[in-house]
Amino acid sequence: MPNKILVTGGAGYIGSHTIVALLENGLEPIIVDNFSNANPDMLERLKGITGRDVKFYRADCTDRRAMRMIFESEKDLKGVIHFAALKSVAESILQPGRYYQNNLNALWTVAEVMQEFDIPNLVFSSSATVYGQPVELPVNENTPLSPPTNPYGNTKLQGEQYLRDLVTSGAAIRPALLRYFNPVGAHPSGLIGEAPLGAPSNLVPYITQTAVGMRQQLTIFGNNYNTPDGTCIRDFIHVMDLAEAHVACLQHLLRASDPGVETFNLGTGRGVSVWNAVTTFEEISGKALPYQFGPRRNGDVPAIWANVDRAQEVLNWKAERSFALALEDAYRWQLKAAS
Ligand code: NAD
Ligand code: UD1
Repeated sequence: MPNKILVTGGAGYIGSHTIVALLENGLEPIIVDNFSNANPDMLERLKGITGRDVKFYRADCTDRRAMRMIFESEKDLKGVIHFAALKSVAESILQPGRYYQNNLNALWTVAEVMQEFDIPNLVFSSSATVYGQPVELPVNENTPLSPPTNPYGNTKLQGEQYLRDLVTSGAAIRPALLRYFNPVGAHPSGLIGEAPLGAPSNLVPYITQTAVGMRQQLTIFGNNYNTPDGTCIRDFIHVMDLAEAHVACLQHLLRASDPGVETFNLGTGRGVSVWNAVTTFEEISGKALPYQFGPRRNGDVPAIWANVDRAQEVLNWKAERSFALALEDAYRWQLKAAS
């Protein structure tokens, strides 16, 4: 029997790609999603890629009764990947209560119900945002954390701390905190990808939407940073590499016997500038991208990229796909979505 894994937020961007990777690796994912930021047609799309009907529950992770019922029905779960969260930085500044309520309550509820049902293995979606303005580059997992610049980031920092406190309390839970850098790209089929509601705030969706004419032009936020070309530097990781890291992490947790918290940076280990992203996109698409330089965006850090040695050593995983491929896949997805 394949190992059953509950995937909260499994209909979302990173979750849906992870469902594909779990199935490809012989695991049996079960989705829980309230579809607050996803479309139920995701299940058909997943079937189009994998040929499989993925079991799903429409439920809210903050709803303890609903979560208990799911765990009751899925008795032999081997672990949980907890993606479910609200993720818009801008929205979190306007509606902090909604973000703390949803993101922290969902994590508390999932972690508590896991303990009730004796399921220790928990993979938690954290973010490089917990490094705030990093004090060294590249950042490794022991680089001191600094306050994020927005409520969304705070929910990730507090989520991590809650899981550490749980382990310290002796709770039978084994969390892995995955700090994602900048997930980009899409499945090569073009059937699933990132579909932000309204105008995107992240760079790559903005680039691809501009390229297909949905946006007039890209504004590059700042060209006077202390970086080689004056624009910010990020560690962009292909979402399929990220998805595969979740499989590696789960397999690691399934093998592990000691309780404890483990933390992994998930990036490529390479920094790419915003300007580089624009020119690489122009090369792979053969299109000139309309852009302008604008002022810096509040809260942006000039540069951040990951040291990914720990993930390679412990999980035997490293990102394999290039940034150009991620842009190619993102563009294919955008062209299909726009057609
Ligand atoms: P997403 O919005 O596409 O996916 C999140 C999913 O969770 C959505 O399908 C949404 O409907 C669902 N959801 C939200 N709250 C829920 C709740 N209370 N109950 C049930 N379902 C709920 O986001 P994503 O980009 O796939 O991100 C997944 C996780 O990774 C999130 O925790 C996010 O904060 C984290 N993360 C994302 C990025 C990124 O750049 N995308 C970077 C770092 C961390
Ligand atoms: C942002 C969030 C981070 C979150 C991550 C994934 C902030 C401060 N940080 O990270 O908490 O985890 O998204 O959702 O919002 N850029 C432009 N023009 C654009 C869009 C972006 O120049 O239209 C630049 C930004 O200034 C930045 C880089 O592109 O330098 C990457 O931006 P983005 O994709 O939003 O990711 P982060 O800011 O790294």
